[in-house]
Amino acid sequence: MLHKPKSKALFQPFSFPNGTSAPNRLFVSAMTNNMSQATGSASSDDLHFLSTRITGGWGGVTTCAAFVDISGRCWPGQLGVCEPFHFEQLAKLKRHTHGHRHPALTFVQLHHGGVRVPETLRHEGRVWGPVARGWGGESCSALTETQIHQLVQSFSRAARGAEQAGFAGCEVHGAHGYLLTQFLSRSLNTRCDRYGGSRLLDRARFLLETLRSIKKQTSSRFVLGVRLSPESYSDVTGLSIAETLELQEILDAEGLDFIHHSMWDTRKAHRTMRLAEALSSRPTRLLKSASGKIWNRADAEWTLRYGMDYVHVGRAALNSPRWPHQIADHNVPHLPPYSQASLRSARLGDAFINYMKKWDGFVGDEHC
Ligand SMILES: Cc1cc2nc3c(=O)[nH]c(=O)nc-3n(C[C@H](O)[C@H](O)[C@H](O)COP(=O)(O)O)c2cc1C
Repeated sequence: MLHKPKSKALFQPFSFPNGTSAPNRLFVSAMTNNMSQATGSASSDDLHFLSTRITGGWGGVTTCAAFVDISGRCWPGQLGVCEPFHFEQLAKLKRHTHGHRHPALTFVQLHHGGVRVPETLRHEGRVWGPVARGWGGESCSALTETQIHQLVQSFSRAARGAEQAGFAGCEVHGAHGYLLTQFLSRSLNTRCDRYGGSRLLDRARFLLETLRSIKKQTSSRFVLGVRLSPESYSDVTGLSIAETLELQEILDAEGLDFIHHSMWDTRKAHRTMRLAEALSSRPTRLLKSASGKIWNRADAEWTLRYGMDYVHVGRAALNSPRWPHQIADHNVPHLPPYSQASLRSARLGDAFINYMKKWDGFVGDEHC
């Protein structure tokens, strides 16, 4: 049966299943930026970047992937959410945005890199995954059940700290091949205990225990969601559509508020439509979002029409902190490349601009 497009207004407030409402359907997606201090504390560049988006007309803003335990740190300058001083610094965001009439809801993205932690950042020389072999065949250490339980606690302590620091919710990073994706993966997670094997329910156990523990440690107002990769890209295995559908049902039964599908390109119509069609074939109370190459109003509206409840925007939010205001006025935002001066005035710190130079065609010369 062909999916029937529904229309939802981009600028209409909406509520998550737990009752928390967002001012509109445009959210900033998590973006790693290397701007944090060596200790994992948010820098003043982090705070400026986030606060300009929180007050920029968005419905929600997500931090970059933030490590919940030092063993999962993947980038130098990555934000941390495991030490009291991490939360003290993040709590300053509230002060930065105090008094704004319609601030965005704030989310922290909870992350552990698992086997993707690079050699240079390995804590005590070890890298951890579901089994003793990574995707590329490289050796790593398999997490014991006790270590899994400890990491579940790390995720939920991070969520509790985030709520106390003033965040409205969290997005658990189950996408892009990091630790929780590694557990969900049929090809990688060949464990023989209750955390792995051929049943998705077993491979999802780590994620489910994490979500249950977060629910216990946070209030009912705290919005809880997961980011998933509903497809494979490069050498990283994502979930098949059938698995995504099964997981959606499991997560719905857990009382989750949202799933954010990382599509990389929502306008690759057949993929988005196939996913939307499958997802909408089963009624669910949790909300669905998608991200990937949403550059203008038409892209965002198209994604809502094809079954998503709201959208996440990545790179377009970098040069245009007030992108929602721009598209509300029917302005078509500029596409990259962007000059360094323009990115600096959009409150990207130098570390972030340097990082973006690795993204093909994003940073141009001073005259673009
Ligand atoms: C510089 C950069 C850093 C990113 N870091 C993260 C991250 O920390 N966590 C995450 O889930 N996705 C991350 N992504 C993916 C984005 O959230 C988004 O899904 C992707 O950029 C596609 O959306 P876009 O086409 O609107 O940029 C990153 C993307 C970029 C460009």
